[in-house]
Amino acid sequence: MENTEPRNWDIETCKTRIADPDAMIRFEAGSPNPEEVDCYRKLLLKRIPLQTSKRSRVLILGMTPELRRMALEIGAKITSVDRSADAIAVYSDWIQAEYRSNEQIICSEWLQFEHLMNGYSDAILGDGVFPNVLSINEHHELLTSLKHIIHHESILIFRQVIIPYYFDLEENSAPHLLNRFRAGSLSEAEFGFGMRFWGCFDEAYDPESFLLNNRIIYDRYLKWLKQERLSQAEFDCIYRYYFDGMNMILPQKAWEEILRNTGFSFECHTLKGNSWYEYYPIYSCQTSK
Ligand SMILES: C[S@@+](CC[C@H](N)C(=O)[O-])C[C@H]1O[C@@H](n2cnc3c(N)ncnc32)[C@H](O)[C@@H]1O
Repeated sequence: MENTEPRNWDIETCKTRIADPDAMIRFEAGSPNPEEVDCYRKLLLKRIPLQTSKRSRVLILGMTPELRRMALEIGAKITSVDRSADAIAVYSDWIQAEYRSNEQIICSEWLQFEHLMNGYSDAILGDGVFPNVLSINEHHELLTSLKHIIHHESILIFRQVIIPYYFDLEENSAPHLLNRFRAGSLSEAEFGFGMRFWGCFDEAYDPESFLLNNRIIYDRYLKWLKQERLSQAEFDCIYRYYFDGMNMILPQKAWEEILRNTGFSFECHTLKGNSWYEYYPIYSCQTSK
């Protein structure tokens, strides 16, 4: 019988995101690119100047290698927390050998690791964390538990998929994205990532629960591939971001209200140059005074 359980973050899902395993490079958009990592770095260094970064403790939610490397390079001691043993197996050695003694990896639910933290974090980083947290209550719970392990100078930095205040869903539907890609006005990453999040929004997103069902999305594109409505190369661009679980995609207003209601002030940093920057901005947050 076919296994229909969601695979979530299993080995195969983690591997679809890898562009070059030998060079340890992943596909941008699904992973923060050098420009985005630079934005994280600058925000982090504003709070943790280089001269003190050697003593700094940074908590990373997930195994995002680009963020772990950056934090280790500035001299921080990091703790990376992920509940997927597969994600840990795939990415644990994606950091330079000389830094490994400065990283502790914990296999745990984010909501349950608070007791494992020994002391405070100067910063908490993550890439696409909250879309994996599937209710508003749990958003509150996670943000509140993070507040227990930070101090008033700490900073939280997340790249966060949102439905921006002004966003044209029709313009981002699959037929439009496909036309724009075929006309050469979207890069492979802009096309593939956009098709995953917005291409089938009408069918795969429930505006009541804010949940996006990725399985519906990939089933649809597989059907289109078989019907030759998508070429193999086009399908491959979308498959780089494969995920078969659910994601919570909040309108910007709702996400920012959650931050405010849990006692955070924030800045939203929208980079210029790639289409996903608009709907995948970088939030830097601090506890409100
Ligand atoms: C944080 S996102 C990272 C996606 C991202 N763009 C990347 O860098 O690959 C995905 C990771 O979060 C982990 N994760 C999702 N929900 C979690 C939870 N409630 N507790 C712990 N880890 C979780 C998954 O196992 C997965 O490895």
